[in-house]
Amino acid sequence: MSTGLATSHGSEHTAILGIGAYRPTRVVPNSELVDAINSSDAWIQQRTGIKERRFAGPEESVQMMSVAASRKAMDRAGVEPAQIDCVIVATVSHMLQTPAIATAIGYELGTDKAPAFDISAACAGFCHGVALGSDMIRAGSAKHVLVIGVERLTDITSLNDRGTAFIFADGAGAAVLGPSDEPGIGPVVWGSDGEQFDLIRQKEDWRDVLAQETPALPHLVMQGNSVFRWASFEMAKIAQATLDRAGIGVEDLDVFVPHQANMRIIDAMARSMKLPQRVRIARDVAEQGNTSAASVPLALDRMIDEGEAKSGDIALLIAFGAGLAYAAQVVKVP
Ligand code: UT7
Repeated sequence: MSTGLATSHGSEHTAILGIGAYRPTRVVPNSELVDAINSSDAWIQQRTGIKERRFAGPEESVQMMSVAASRKAMDRAGVEPAQIDCVIVATVSHMLQTPAIATAIGYELGTDKAPAFDISAACAGFCHGVALGSDMIRAGSAKHVLVIGVERLTDITSLNDRGTAFIFADGAGAAVLGPSDEPGIGPVVWGSDGEQFDLIRQKEDWRDVLAQETPALPHLVMQGNSVFRWASFEMAKIAQATLDRAGIGVEDLDVFVPHQANMRIIDAMARSMKLPQRVRIARDVAEQGNTSAASVPLALDRMIDEGEAKSGDIALLIAFGAGLAYAAQVVKVP
């Protein structure tokens, strides 16, 4: 029975129309970090594959890096700021509890008062944003959606913390999503495991911080080995489920872009999935470190720039982290 309410319908199919990224200019080799955590370049490379990372300078704010990455993505997509109907920013390192940084980013870009909001899904945030944006376009709530993954993790990382100092880094990546004649973004497979809420987290809640005699900025803490085991075993299953939902097999993949957390996790996933040799695998973590929500678009952007991912290639994106939260989808490279 009709309630008299109209409903909206959008495009049957969606695609990523353009990808962009911004890498901070300061390169930080392992050698700069090891003394403070009694570590070594050899240990970090062997355990993570990380050789160096980028740390943002004072002028490379969450907003500045996001705007730079978004302009590159919009340029490549051939979409003007005024055509953007929604700005979604995935981040855990915007330092104001409210308002969302997405509104300021949209304003600077000139997205003409489009809705703009932040999402908090940590390292899985960008893939959550792609899923949301794609569904919005299919439902008719937006035609073009700008999805940004951005972090200045150095603001919330202690360089004296042996478990995190050598992993986390800064950067931004962005994607413009829009309608398409054929499927360009496959169904998302996503989820969370709140039983493991404490494995990666801000150390103390703000009220506990303020109750301290000399309040200090709380930093991220991680039970790295538990996360490592969860990611290495569980995420290969999620990857396979994502291929199944997209109706393809590993043999149809051209490119694999997993969250850039640790090269050993990337290799473990590739082995469990039995990825054919010819599938190009993103290995941006070696030079970029772990940039949480920014890592998947940064890695894809590098592959496009270096000719490793070509327009029309079939790519599997998968991201996972604090929460524990994860999300994955198959996409066509723009
Ligand atoms: O982005 C969100 C998702 N995050 C991730 O996916 C991160 C997942 N975790 C990891 O990448 C890894 O767990 C780490 C790289 C963080 C740590 O590597 P691990 O192989 O899990 O090391 P571990 O914590 O099990 O420690 C192994 C050994 C220990 O020594 P013993 O007990 O074997 O003698 C540690 O004391 O390595 C030692 N160790 C270190 N040595 C030098 C731990 N941290 C360090 C360090 N430098 N920084």
